[in-house]
Amino acid sequence: MATPFSTTGFHHITMVSSNAPRTLAFYGDLLGLGLVKKTVNFDDPGAYHLYFGDSEGRPGTIVTFFEWPKAPPGQWGIGGVHHLALGVQSAEAQLKWKRRLTDAGVAVTGPLDRGYFRSLYFADPDGQILEIATAGPGYAIDEPADALGTSLLVPPLERMPEGRDEAAIAATTHPEPIPEITADMALDGIHHISAITDDLDRAGEFYETALGLSLIKMTYNQDDGQTKHYFWAAYDGQSIAPHSSMTLFGWESGRRRAQPGVGQTHHVAFRTNDATEQKEWREHLLSLGLSVTEVRDRTYFESIYFHAPDGLLVEIATDGPGFAVDEPADSLGDELKLPSWLEPRRSDIERTLVPLP
Ligand SMILES: [Fe+2]
Ligand SMILES: [Fe+2]
Repeated sequence: MATPFSTTGFHHITMVSSNAPRTLAFYGDLLGLGLVKKTVNFDDPGAYHLYFGDSEGRPGTIVTFFEWPKAPPGQWGIGGVHHLALGVQSAEAQLKWKRRLTDAGVAVTGPLDRGYFRSLYFADPDGQILEIATAGPGYAIDEPADALGTSLLVPPLERMPEGRDEAAIAATTHPEPIPEITADMALDGIHHISAITDDLDRAGEFYETALGLSLIKMTYNQDDGQTKHYFWAAYDGQSIAPHSSMTLFGWESGRRRAQPGVGQTHHVAFRTNDATEQKEWREHLLSLGLSVTEVRDRTYFESIYFHAPDGLLVEIATDGPGFAVDEPADSLGDELKLPSWLEPRRSDIERTLVPLP
């Protein structure tokens, strides 16, 4: 459906951690993501907000956490994110990740051949489900690259649970320990985000008209052949933009709804070029009948928030000004940064936060 505004992909994803030092150790040390900003939740300044990303914290690579030690454990379900997939270039590098994670005591499932990519699954220390997905072979393996998302595709039996050799998959790993992350293992940002909806048609209309994404794949969940699995992305009819695949599992209404809390995704943010476009985009969203917040200044970007019809909290964030706005680009994440209006409260805020290494 034609729409005046189209996102180029994800800006960031924000999840809930119960323990900032543990989250820093897991995402920073074990997964090798860079800490690009150490700050507090601007709406709740007693809580850390940690931002991870590539060296510059470019949109599409940004993974953030609110630290809420007292939040209840969350649960995935309708209106929530099921998992976050981070990208890796090759299947060989993916196997190295399996070895590194397994040796660190993390339970890993896979690698599973999903056709469009290969997938490795595990969870962070709070229970957030994560995936490491390979860049290829891509979405054009079973329909033409210029006609993605046009037919409902049934996955071949060998990709379904009843056709897989689970024992062989479990036994597959890299032969040597991986104490240091090698260059080929670099995780290159958000590969896809998979959420759960109770109405794929309504969700599709939302992602297409509110965010300008395109339906690029209609298939079934390869772990549960009864459940439809649809993919949307920034797609120009020829190729798919990196960091832009939003996938949804279609559940029946009445099944479990997502419970917000620890180990769950708080919100998903998509990109807009700048504040001018964001302002016009906001008017467009209002014209669709969505309830949209005012523009909020997040220092590193500007944000508006609204809900998808199934309840998922969605943000549109500007690409700029970026994380080098308040500290040198070569030392991002080193110091606790506060927005100007919280600086007068710095000593109180620092007293309430557990220091991070
Ligand atoms: Fe996935
Ligand atoms: Fe956000």
